[in-house]
Amino acid sequence: MEQPVPACKEVVPTDTDYLWIEGIPFPTAVCQNLTSLREEFVVKDEDVIILSYPKSGTNWLVEILSLIHTKGDPSWVQSVPIYHRSPWLESEIWVEEIKKHPPEKCPRYYSSHLPIHLFPKSFFNSKAKIIYLIRNPRDVITSGYHFWKAMKIVKNPESFEQYFHWFLQGNVVYGSWFDHIRGWLTMRGKENFLIVTYEDLSQDIRGRIEVISQFLGKKLNPEELNSVLENASFQVMKDNKMSNFSQLPDYIIDHSKGQLLRKGITGDWKNHFTVAQSETFDKIYQEKMAGLPQKLFPWE
Ligand code: A3P
Repeated sequence: MEQPVPACKEVVPTDTDYLWIEGIPFPTAVCQNLTSLREEFVVKDEDVIILSYPKSGTNWLVEILSLIHTKGDPSWVQSVPIYHRSPWLESEIWVEEIKKHPPEKCPRYYSSHLPIHLFPKSFFNSKAKIIYLIRNPRDVITSGYHFWKAMKIVKNPESFEQYFHWFLQGNVVYGSWFDHIRGWLTMRGKENFLIVTYEDLSQDIRGRIEVISQFLGKKLNPEELNSVLENASFQVMKDNKMSNFSQLPDYIIDHSKGQLLRKGITGDWKNHFTVAQSETFDKIYQEKMAGLPQKLFPWE
């Protein structure tokens, strides 16, 4: 049965309309009460949390987890919108949905873009599992530029060049990509924290699904695995109205200007960056990622 999209507040997307927490702007339509969330939200040991910086392939991962949960049966992803299968922790409407999740339908799945220092403190004393999805930041910029210019709940970039600079300055919703990654990477090596990259998913989806299933303690037979692969593919997701955001109301997104499932490839940044932008990016990347181990990510 189709479920309605929770109503969000309509906002004028300017800097002053954002919710600012410790210098980071959050879109008020989908983020509220973040300070009390950090102090009060109770993470349960059984929870499975999909964490990412926006535009890293978050919804792809939600689709994969939904299908692993049903052992490849597509009926859940075909009947329940993606934001009800894994609601957003930052939104007070959806956090209520998370809290009301029937205990017999364990685990609770939920998604978040929060940086580590704003994440609910109770997580850090729990056995809850986080899958942290990371994507080449050049492709995050590219995907973000196309997506944010269609969204009515954030300040829209006027040009790629403008968005490129906002991103490098961390002057974007959910803050700096570099801070997000550096913050969450401190969890690397913990047994309840799995890092997955968009690039690895693209190159070896079968292998990654096996790793994710194992992390979640689920075993899929070859037929179930094939069904996960097929139903989480770009084209099947793009055609699935429960997963492609086509049912988001017009006051959140201008569907004529952009869509969630745009290209679904790695390296599209090469079609967008100028040589000068590429050089600027490389320089800032080196500076901001200094001190982290070399060759941590597939794009390095
Ligand atoms: P592009 O804009 O580069 O196409 P998020 O869910 O974090 O907002 O990320 C959206 C990005 O993930 C988009 O990237 C989208 O196309 C990509 N994506 C979503 N589902 C996908 C899938 N099944 N296969 C490959 N990429 C997918």
